[in-house]
Amino acid sequence: MTRSVVTIERHIVDQERLHPEATGAFSGILYDMALAAKMISREVNKAGLVDILGATDHQNVHGEIVKKLDEFADDVIFKAFDHTGLLCCMASEENEEILEIPAHFPTGKYSLLYDPLDGSSNIDANISVGTIFSVHRKVSDHPRGCEEDCIQVGRKQIAGGYVVYGSSTMLVYTTGNGVHGFTLDPSIGEFLLSHPNIRIPKPGKRIYSVNEGNYARWHEGQRRLVDHLKGIDSRGGAPFSARYVGSMVADLHRTLLYGGLFMYPADRENPNGKLRLLYEANPMAFVVENAGGRATDGCRDVLDIEPTSLHQRVPLYIGSAEFVDLAERFVAEEAVAAAG
Ligand code: AHG
Ligand code: MN
Ligand code: MN
Repeated sequence: MTRSVVTIERHIVDQERLHPEATGAFSGILYDMALAAKMISREVNKAGLVDILGATDHQNVHGEIVKKLDEFADDVIFKAFDHTGLLCCMASEENEEILEIPAHFPTGKYSLLYDPLDGSSNIDANISVGTIFSVHRKVSDHPRGCEEDCIQVGRKQIAGGYVVYGSSTMLVYTTGNGVHGFTLDPSIGEFLLSHPNIRIPKPGKRIYSVNEGNYARWHEGQRRLVDHLKGIDSRGGAPFSARYVGSMVADLHRTLLYGGLFMYPADRENPNGKLRLLYEANPMAFVVENAGGRATDGCRDVLDIEPTSLHQRVPLYIGSAEFVDLAERFVAEEAVAAAG
């Protein structure tokens, strides 16, 4: 007998049945995200074939050059959601202000934050890129949503996840009740449940992942941590291996499946590191915590950080709980040394 195949649609319906009070609105969001992911995946896969590569003239709100595929992905996600009546508003890495639902469409009771294309500097080299998304409940009285609906503490997410466009395209998400991974079968155009209930293996693989080119700008505690992971200080066990793709989604997908520690720390020039709290760190932290791992900024759980602005950055230590604990100890030692 052939095993029954679980499509993402069937999985969503099954999950909905577990919650008799569900209206189906939330399921619709996941389904629409899967659709957007398929459209972006198709475009990423043919990026080498068509004239879609190269930078446009535009810069995003962070002053970075935006690639055409970033714009495409941004647009696909917005258009997949703008007319559904499920969202009150959206926010994207590529847009300074929140994105309002066009006046001729109805609005709903959720907000969506997203990084449409993560790791976009890797596109030209055919290296994995991704999409990251975070869903919150509408909390403001504003009939069509406002910043308050987007700038919420990570702990209040009702869903978070990512898509990785790698050797296969995978969608991984959590609603706080297990982490589920689906692999796109391009021949039938469906995401199939391939990784039910993902848990970070324990013990995790001894892998660290960080842009070590920034070593000279790091604080002493960060340098000591990485020296320790390499076995230079002879205080620990076997040295860790180093892996760094430069697409957070890809580095964290590996971390989720193998274990390890991913870091984007603060440094002397960037006191909050590089990654954005609301649509990069928070959804990844939600996934990783739900898979048994941890995510901190060095002293606080990422999901407990009260955000103050849409595009704020946060230092990030995320992955196997045991390694994040270890990183925190080095960061704390540094804080004590700096205070003394
Ligand atoms: P984005 O492409 O959305 O701007 O994000 C890139 C991020 C993240 O994916 C990655 O981990 C990090 O930038 C890499 O930064 P460095 O090149 O500084 O290592
Ligand atoms: Mn990104
Ligand atoms: Mn991006």
